[in-house]
Amino acid sequence: METISIIDSKNHVNEKVKIGVWLTNKRSSGKIAFLQLRDGSAYFQGVVVKNNVSEEVFKIAKEVKQETSMYVTGTIHEDSRSHFGYEIEVEDIEIVGESEDYPITPKEHGTDFLMDHRHLWLRSSRQFAIMKIRNEMIRATYEFFNKEGFMKVDAPILTGSAPEGTTELFHTKYFDRDAYLSQSGQLYEEAGAMAYGKVFSFGPTFRAEKSKTRRHLIEFWMIEPEMAFTHQEESLEVQERYIAYLVQNVLDHCDYELDILGRDKDVLKRYTELPYPRISYDEAIKMLQDSGEFPDVEWGADFGSPEETYLAEQFSKPVFVMNYPKAIKPFYMKPHPTRDDVVICADLLAPEGYGEIIGGSERATDTEYLKEQIEKAGLNMKDYEWYLDLRRYGSVPHSGFGLGLERAVTWITGEDHIREAIPFPRLLNRIYP
Ligand code: 4AD
Repeated sequence: METISIIDSKNHVNEKVKIGVWLTNKRSSGKIAFLQLRDGSAYFQGVVVKNNVSEEVFKIAKEVKQETSMYVTGTIHEDSRSHFGYEIEVEDIEIVGESEDYPITPKEHGTDFLMDHRHLWLRSSRQFAIMKIRNEMIRATYEFFNKEGFMKVDAPILTGSAPEGTTELFHTKYFDRDAYLSQSGQLYEEAGAMAYGKVFSFGPTFRAEKSKTRRHLIEFWMIEPEMAFTHQEESLEVQERYIAYLVQNVLDHCDYELDILGRDKDVLKRYTELPYPRISYDEAIKMLQDSGEFPDVEWGADFGSPEETYLAEQFSKPVFVMNYPKAIKPFYMKPHPTRDDVVICADLLAPEGYGEIIGGSERATDTEYLKEQIEKAGLNMKDYEWYLDLRRYGSVPHSGFGLGLERAVTWITGEDHIREAIPFPRLLNRIYP
């Protein structure tokens, strides 16, 4: 008899198998017990019929507590009534680990309670579906960038430089010196691009942002591609191909999980159709002003959630907003060739109210310009000498971008809050568990 995973049930119909499972829920009548089972690969039902099993097995089935781990042995049947499509008719149960009274019951719980029990909450079917989709997006990311000829160059997490501004840094001691947790691997990816052409990093990044919104994490994972001999327009094409690839792979490989979440697949399909619309920051400001909903918005303002949501709602696909004011963007962005007030950059805004999922730009190549900007930003020139070397020794036009993984997961899974998109979220007031 084979030991299988629940997800492989379809290959074992009418066969006798053994599966290691946990009990998520149960109900029973006098003669039959229905055990809801999970094993990390899927969720399905075990049916225990009193007349077909020993007295002892039926007693276990009636009394076993939620989250008890066990081996069940039985025959797989098709089950057209269930969403999963298969069930097991249980013949034998072997308890592996008994469970105490489980704190998370099928009734409703508040968010704080669930976040305090995040280590257990991860076992629920919704969390399972989100984490599987996150995993698929990570897998597809590696596949996409490998197919497109990118090489992974890992950026350090302890750094001495602050690409995205000095106000959101986590400070730490590095022996007798100061160091910071990385806000972005970008500057290191630029070095990588000058060495290997097309590179990307994928790692944790940290922002000491005192924002308590449904889009902000303190610790999040970012995918940061960087491309030598590449202008912004080609970078935008890579970005939209990448996003369409992520969505298509989730559609192709996560049908079961999308159904658990109740995510509308037709809506997701629309996001695989390229190209995505592009508007300039100037046009975005005009749209906001014309809407009448943002009476105070003026050219030069950065967009908050309401502005991004309004803009994205005007399109049925993600939209690029291009060329923001220089004053509200980081020091490394390439100045516009004919305008002094904007830089060559774009944010990609996701539809359905999810806001910015990608930030990217063409990078400034002029050493003197960069020095000025570094000074203006109040950064320590000495910390950036290595970065300026990239311009001194064979500088080329280059562009790159950063996708916040959890923002993208929240959007693709259709969740309300970014805390659901990462196994153990770090939030303004939470570092437990
Ligand atoms: O726009 P950002 O700050 O861009 C950079 O860090 C660039 N250095 C990237 C690059 O060009 N290589 O951040 C990029 C993305 C955002 O679009 C968003 O998806 C995500 O990172 N992000 C956050 N996600 C969760 N919580 C936060 N606090 C985030 N801040 C940014």
